[in-house]
Amino acid sequence: MASTHGAEVLVASNRGPVSYTADEKGSLRAKRGGGGLVSGLSAIGSDADSVWVCAALGDGDREAVRRAQGGLLPAEDTGGQRVRMLDIAPDVFADAYNGIANSVLWFVHHMLYQTPLEPVFDARFRRQWASYQAYNRAFAEALAEEAAVGAAVVVQDYHLALAPRMLRHLRPDLRIGHFSHTPWAPPDYFRLLPDDIAAELLQGILGADRAAFLTGRWADAFTACCEAVLGPGITTGTAIGVHGLGADADFLRTRAHEPDVDERMTALRREIGENRRTIVRVDRTELSKNIVRGLLAYRQLLDDHPEWRERVVHLAFAYPSRQDLAVYREYTAEVQRVAEEINAQYGTAGWRPVVLHVKDDFARSLAAYRLADVALVNPIRDGMNLVAKEVPVVSDEGCVLVLSREAGAYEELGEDAIGVNPYDIGGMAQALHAALGMPAGERAERSKRLAAAATALPPAKWFLDQLAALER
Ligand code: F6P
Repeated sequence: MASTHGAEVLVASNRGPVSYTADEKGSLRAKRGGGGLVSGLSAIGSDADSVWVCAALGDGDREAVRRAQGGLLPAEDTGGQRVRMLDIAPDVFADAYNGIANSVLWFVHHMLYQTPLEPVFDARFRRQWASYQAYNRAFAEALAEEAAVGAAVVVQDYHLALAPRMLRHLRPDLRIGHFSHTPWAPPDYFRLLPDDIAAELLQGILGADRAAFLTGRWADAFTACCEAVLGPGITTGTAIGVHGLGADADFLRTRAHEPDVDERMTALRREIGENRRTIVRVDRTELSKNIVRGLLAYRQLLDDHPEWRERVVHLAFAYPSRQDLAVYREYTAEVQRVAEEINAQYGTAGWRPVVLHVKDDFARSLAAYRLADVALVNPIRDGMNLVAKEVPVVSDEGCVLVLSREAGAYEELGEDAIGVNPYDIGGMAQALHAALGMPAGERAERSKRLAAAATALPPAKWFLDQLAALER
């Protein structure tokens, strides 16, 4: 039912701009999320005309929804933004988020299946799929309730691939966009999904007036999947768009010079030691980020080029992610094991070759960015990868970027980065060697150009361009 005083602009995403934790006394603490998605979508503004619909992700969030009596979260927690958080039944949410979104769709789009990590489409999968449908329906219904007549709705990501079509049925008057933050799989890989599921996913997104992606490569793959699964010419009713997402230069440059970052720099300098180069990486511990192969490449560098021993430190920050899933927990353990092996094999009394941190600390990440001589970003596949864009913006002396050809960011940064095949450990070792040895002048020049390219598409522009395109 359309609300007469509803919002003119709405966004929907699984993770919202704020999350809650409860202390022992039951008081709730609200924390604002970081990253490009939150800063981009925040351009929605904070007036009565906009609403952000998201899911409650944990017990703290659920309690906050109960206290808000199912309505909007308190304005003091959201910086004034109107945020409606959905309390989806925990088992439905777990099946949709962990079961379908992160164990199936993420693996398909990042092409991560390999023996023994194979897709399993059995009865359990079908039950999880029903939850994924229910989760998408809950979003579609909330959006339908909140939207004014003719409002614009921008639905985000693979969690919500079915919501556009569901919303279209409920509210044909709305202008609906869908944006994918992941890569899109090519048809031969996408078609490993059961036929009916593949079709439902594509039709779900085609329910939007406009489907948008981070790069032309992912947009073309989506169109190719539609043609292969649903038939030629099928996408004509839906406009296909591309909006790259850049680093938020103003925010990063200010935040990177606050006192807590300076403190972290002092601590990191102690861990690094005197007169040593740094290779920096910062990721969620995520299989697509390819952290283990990155460590193996660093080990090969130390093997092939003994001249770097004692003269370089690899700062590897791998922050836990999606730890409800065994495969992610195992991957985190594997990262720790390989880092320890390298330290045991090459470390000396005064030199720890790998400094691995697994506890999330944004100030420490920024401190590492500032100290970076080389940034290593080697995902197997990545929608964009904002770290590749952030390090050149923040690094004090300019850095060399070693960048996977399979990251979306490569389309914009490839010319001034050293491109690598993320499966080729030897090739990545050579690239690290070249990066460490690059003359200071060339490094500074390239880094300057990288920073300019990385900030050309600020997050607010990314969002407002999507809205403007939807207006047209
Ligand atoms: O890349 C897709 C994405 O949804 C990003 O927007 C975000 O950085 C990441 O995945 C976070 O995943 P999660 O919400 O599962 O921690």
